[in-house]
Formats: sequence, C-alpha cells, structure tokens
Amino acid sequence: MRASPLFGPSRRQVLRGAGAAAVATLLPRRFAAAARPAPVRIGLLLPYSGTYAMLGTAITDGLKLRLAEAGETLAGRPVDYIAVDSEASPPQAPQNTRKLVVRDRVDFLVGPVHSGVALAMAQIVAARGGPIMIIPNAGANALTRELCARNVFRASFSNWQTGYPCGKVMADDGHRRIVTITWRYAAGDEIMGGGAEHFEALGGRVDKHIRVPFPDVSFQPHLSEIAALAPDAVFAFFSGGGAVQFVRDYAAAGLKDRIPLYGPGFLTEGVAAAQGAAADGIRSTLHYVDDLDLPANRRFRDAYRLAYGREADVFAVQGYDTGTLIVQAMAAVDGDTAAVADIARALEGARLDDSPRGPWRMSPAHNPVQTFYLRDVQEGRHRFLGIAAEALADPAIGCALG
Ligand code: PHB
Repeated sequence: MRASPLFGPSRRQVLRGAGAAAVATLLPRRFAAAARPAPVRIGLLLPYSGTYAMLGTAITDGLKLRLAEAGETLAGRPVDYIAVDSEASPPQAPQNTRKLVVRDRVDFLVGPVHSGVALAMAQIVAARGGPIMIIPNAGANALTRELCARNVFRASFSNWQTGYPCGKVMADDGHRRIVTITWRYAAGDEIMGGGAEHFEALGGRVDKHIRVPFPDVSFQPHLSEIAALAPDAVFAFFSGGGAVQFVRDYAAAGLKDRIPLYGPGFLTEGVAAAQGAAADGIRSTLHYVDDLDLPANRRFRDAYRLAYGREADVFAVQGYDTGTLIVQAMAAVDGDTAAVADIARALEGARLDDSPRGPWRMSPAHNPVQTFYLRDVQEGRHRFLGIAAEALADPAIGCALG
C-alpha cells in the first residue's frame, strides 16, 4: 500500500514527486500529462482491528491482488489506496466516510464489512451522488432494497441471500424445531430472518431467537439455555474472531454431538483451521467454497497463496471481485473518474464470468445474482457438497432502480 495521505507522504515519495514536477516543467504539457497521469484514488473503509479484522485484511489483499494482475493501473492511470480502520463501529462511520469522501476526494469508496457501518456510509454517498461506493461484504438488506442508490453497488451478498438457502437444508435434513443465535444487529437479524423464513415455509418452527450484543463473546449462559431447550438443530451467525470462540464453546459445552450446528458459511469461513475439530461436520450455505472446481478459482487461490502465504476465503474473493468491477468500469469510461453516471451504468451491466465463486451478474438493484453452495467442514477445510440455490437474486423489495 502506498503511504496514506492520513499519515503524510514518505520522504521518498516527496522526493519522487519533486523530481517528477521538475521534469514536468521541462516538458511540453501533453508529454508531461502522458508521463504521469493522475492516480485513481481508492478509499478503503474496512475493519483492521477487532473481531472482523481478518475480514478487512482478506478483502484488502484480494482487491490488491486483482489490481496487481491489472498491472497496478486502471485505463493507464496508477492507483492510490487510502485506508481507514472502520473498527466495525457504526457511530464512527459518518466521520470516517467524510474523511475519505470530502477530505481525500476518493474516486471509489470500498467498504465496509459491518452492516451498520454500511448503512451510515451509503446514506452519505447516496445523498451526495458520489463517489461510487462498492460494498465488498456488508449485507444489510436495505442497501439494495429501500435504500438502493445509483452510485452504491454490492460485490458480496444481501444478508437474506446467505440465510435463506440454509432454511431448506435444515428442513431437508429432517429437523423440525430450531433455535437461532447471533449478534444483535442488522446482519444477525437478517441472516437468521432469511433462514427462518424458508425453514418455516417448509413446516419448521423456531422455538427461540437468542441475541447477543455485538461483538460480545460471552456465550456460556446462552449455551446452557440451548441445552435446556434441546432443539433439533441450532442456526447461528457469528464471523471472524467471534465465530472462532462460538464454535469452540459450542463443542466444549458438549452440544456438538447432540444438536447439529448450521449457519451461513461465515460461521466457519476463514476460521475453520482456528476452530479445529470443533468445526468438523458443520453444514452451511455460502456463495463460495474453497474447492470449487473452476479454473478461475484454482488460478485465484494459487495466486493469493503465492502473494500472501495464506489460503483465500470468501472475503478475499469479494475483494478480488470488487477489483474486477473497478477494472471493468474504468475500462468502460477510458479512465475518466469524473464520469460517475457512466461508471454507474457500466457497473449496472457488470457480468463477472470469471469470478472464483463462479459466474455472477449485477441485479438491477445493484446486488449480485449468484449461486449458493452447500458445504461442510472436514479437518479444517471446506468441502463442496452441492448447489443449495442456483442464480439466487435478493427480492429487492422497495428498490425503484432498473
Ligand atoms: C455484516 O455485518 O453484514 C456481515 C459481517 C460479517 C460477515 C457477514 C456479514 O461475515
């Protein structure tokens, strides 16, 4: 990452800049402009600390890998990254968003992970009509429903999309009574809501919705309550550091072999190795699985491992696909970042035929239409078990776009 203006340019960058300026004064204008086109400014508002820190890092790494593959240029212009730690904190989101949008005048705003942060960010950029915001994770349903906006796009999922297919998986596995448990905020409520909707439509019953304040990890009293309720299965959403703790505590409480645990894939994604044997056998639905047998996925995973020395996960894929959207849009406007309406039109028509997750396209409400897979975990790795929902689109209720 180049030094962020937040921290000021390094001495080397100042010297390099001074050198370029000196050369520029010696050259006719058109050559000077051709020699050093202005960088495209990409603002990142992602969690680099706290329970979601590993998600923010994977998204950043995936995005940078994609732009490295594009030669670190967008339609001939170099790229500047300006990163701000969102701390997954909704109260800080307005100030952090203004920092990037008003002070740093970013051309693309990429972020966030947390649904509450996303709702605050999107309302600011939608009201201003710019810049283009691409959400590389946060699933808050409203972003591509009633709050949908011309300049706000999602490269990830709606929360409803990730929970809904799992409701059928639990019903098909023969369960009739479940308990849900999650953090109390938009993502938890909406993912559990999607799963419960499908499960109940197939004749199942939700005995109780347990809600834990974000980002608490004091799960013991809730695990005792689950043991007492003795449902057929538990449907849970936690992610990042909190998911490691929950899955381990669930097994340590002796529940793992008595009451099967299900979830959106986030429950084990990126953390299955850290969860160890406690994660073995957990079935989940997600728009990605490590061992998807596609050339684009194999290529991506090899390149990511080589670049970062870690295995890729869904968050890295979402960052990578965010990069592809930016590459495609900048090619469509020949690098003209001022052409916000044309960039938005290009993103509206985006088709990612070569995504590591499989082909997907942007819906009229600016959310991916994509396939959801059934997976489980065996010895720290995710296994593809089948297709849970083909080309699933969010219902986009209340969005007037398109
Ligand atoms: C969200 O807040 O929208 C969110 C966070 C982490 C996930 C998924 C969704 O893994």
